[in-house]
Amino acid sequence: MGDLRERFEQRKIEAKFYWSFGKQRTNANWHLRHCKSVGAQATVLGRPTVDASDMEVGDHFKVWSTHKRTLVTGWGRLRVGDRVFFNNGVFISCVHEIIIGSDVAIANDAYLTDSDSHGVEGRKVREAPIRIGDGAWIGARAVILPGVTIGRRALVAAGAVVTRDVPDDTLVGGNPARVIRELVYPEGVTRAWHDEPFPSV
Ligand SMILES: CC(C)(COP(=O)(O)OP(=O)(O)OC[C@H]1O[C@@H](n2cnc3c(N)ncnc32)[C@H](O)[C@@H]1OP(=O)(O)O)[C@@H](O)C(=O)NCCC(=O)NCCS
Repeated sequence: MGDLRERFEQRKIEAKFYWSFGKQRTNANWHLRHCKSVGAQATVLGRPTVDASDMEVGDHFKVWSTHKRTLVTGWGRLRVGDRVFFNNGVFISCVHEIIIGSDVAIANDAYLTDSDSHGVEGRKVREAPIRIGDGAWIGARAVILPGVTIGRRALVAAGAVVTRDVPDDTLVGGNPARVIRELVYPEGVTRAWHDEPFPSV
């Protein structure tokens, strides 16, 4: 009897998971409708505004926008790889070019802009591409400024203001962001933001 009850509870959990996943898949069809292309199995939780007009995303794209709205906007060329996650409150303004690799996580309230929006000392507005390497993790409330390239498997610590390029496999933090240390990954680890010590990625 105990066994039966356990199996029933397990089925209930699975049913809830599939129901929620189904809802998030349907939600993605609506909220990602302005994208030029969306890969397989995209999910959206909550109500982001994704109205960038030249945006293509890969497979397993995941967006959360629940307690804080996530906004992805602009007319620039925005390309997003596979298995990329935008967390609550992410703000991405793309008027020039932003290229995000695969297996990238962008944490809560991170801010990416490829334009300063206003000129300084009578100069033209600075607009320059942002590139984020495969497997990078952009921490909460980090700011990535125009022209910055973030390396593969790099980790941008929470609250960093990144004004210069970040090499591969490097942890940066602070304002302006400085190199804290080189990151050393176990064999086979492809991304900075794994959930287990030895993920099967
Ligand atoms: C970077 C981070 C992962 C910690 O990594 P860690 O390898 O454990 O680093 P440590 O805590 O050993 O810190 C190493 C050094 O970096 C500094 N540091 C850590 N986080 C920092 C930050 N956010 N800003 C500035 N410096 C930071 C530490 O003070 C320490 O400096 P010290 O050597 O002079 O004492 C963590 O601080 C962080 O920023 N996490 C982001 C979490 C997040 O945004 N989650 C969102 C959910 S997806």
